[in-house]
Amino acid sequence: MLNFEFKNPTKIIFGKGKIEKLSREIPKDANILMIYGGGSIKKNGVYEQVIAALDGYKLTEFGGVPANPEYEVLLEALQVIKDKNIDYLLAVGGGSVIDGVKFLSAAANYDGEPWEILSNRVVTKEGKGMPFATVLTLPATASEMNSGAVISRRGTGEKLAMGGPGLFPQFSILDPEVIKSIPKNQIANGITDAYTHVLEQYMTYPTGASLQDRFAESILLSLQEVAPKVMAEAFDYDAAANFMWSCTMALNGLIGKGVPQDWAVHSMGHELTAQYGIDHARTLAIVAPQHYHYYFDKKKDKLAQYAERVWNITEGAVDEKAKKGIEAMEQFFHSLDIKTKLSEYTDSYNGTAEKVQAAFESRGWLLGENQMVTPEDAKKIVEMTY
Ligand code: NZQ
Ligand code: ZN
Repeated sequence: MLNFEFKNPTKIIFGKGKIEKLSREIPKDANILMIYGGGSIKKNGVYEQVIAALDGYKLTEFGGVPANPEYEVLLEALQVIKDKNIDYLLAVGGGSVIDGVKFLSAAANYDGEPWEILSNRVVTKEGKGMPFATVLTLPATASEMNSGAVISRRGTGEKLAMGGPGLFPQFSILDPEVIKSIPKNQIANGITDAYTHVLEQYMTYPTGASLQDRFAESILLSLQEVAPKVMAEAFDYDAAANFMWSCTMALNGLIGKGVPQDWAVHSMGHELTAQYGIDHARTLAIVAPQHYHYYFDKKKDKLAQYAERVWNITEGAVDEKAKKGIEAMEQFFHSLDIKTKLSEYTDSYNGTAEKVQAAFESRGWLLGENQMVTPEDAKKIVEMTY
């Protein structure tokens, strides 16, 4: 097992009806900016619950943060923060809204040009971000319990990550009932995103971290088990609760401690979203299987372990099991109606790989465990996804 340090200060308030606990957690004298997305919270009752819970607070609203949170829109929210002397941020939404709020938390106390936080990878240290909390409406990213964010800038075709220990939410409210109103394609995205978060922290090489391996495998198994239930028409509270908690646990830092991590699939995926606007999770399903084929020799021990423990593929030698593991992974994505070829999302895919290579070269990126993924490798992997 590798050495590690672990601190996650986010308080989780989990369960049915828990949105009313907001007023117990936010200081009474806070001057709050509540931030939300395109309006789903106004149709499913979440907005009313939040407003009722914040009765008596000084509250300003900012709606309209789009999926893949847009820098230009967030700059408008930043202006509101400055104009109204806001001192507490509340995200009510999915990963996009929460990530947008993390950017605002960092930018509110940053002296330079806000885009530098992304372009220069400025780390927000503990105590340096504006305090914020979240009411999660879409299980997927685990942004509700981690300190990372991904921001898009459509004008320049960029989608970049940021973060730091000062960007953990103070608390997050997770009420599985919010899942009732999520469209099935977004549920499928949530399952696929969380599943791939586990893979990024698991599908590397063995380091004898058997507890982390089993944490990871249990999340994959739980997601596979709940998938048909949360995709079904009838609402199943326990399945929704397990789905929600699996997504949070997949990327709150715990399973990645003491093990090598990859994350090249996400970096390549972000480029596909930046180029074509493909949903984040779907880009991962496009890239992951090909990434594992490309690095088969380096990753086959973990691929075979995955096949055996997660899919019960026990016959054959390591290579055979590992190959079947990749097949089972791709079939799982297909079972969620998630397509795994870039050409199934766009006809104009020619040249995509070269653009990814150029973007990674311009940033000097070497990715993956051991920084083995060069821009040239990324180009070849993206070509395999056509
Ligand atoms: O905007 P509204 O109207 O609220 O609608 C949203 C949006 O259209 C809708 N939705 C959310 N909750 C709903 C709902 N519709 C009905 N009922 C509800 N209860 O779902 C749509 C997608 O929402 P979004 O927040 O974009 O989805 P997700 O949570 O998948 O977030 C994706 C973003 O997170 C980033 C991605 O790159 C992408 O930008 N990620 C953030 C990570 C992190 N912070 O750790 C890690 C991830 O790997 C990922 O990169
Ligand atoms: Zn993701």
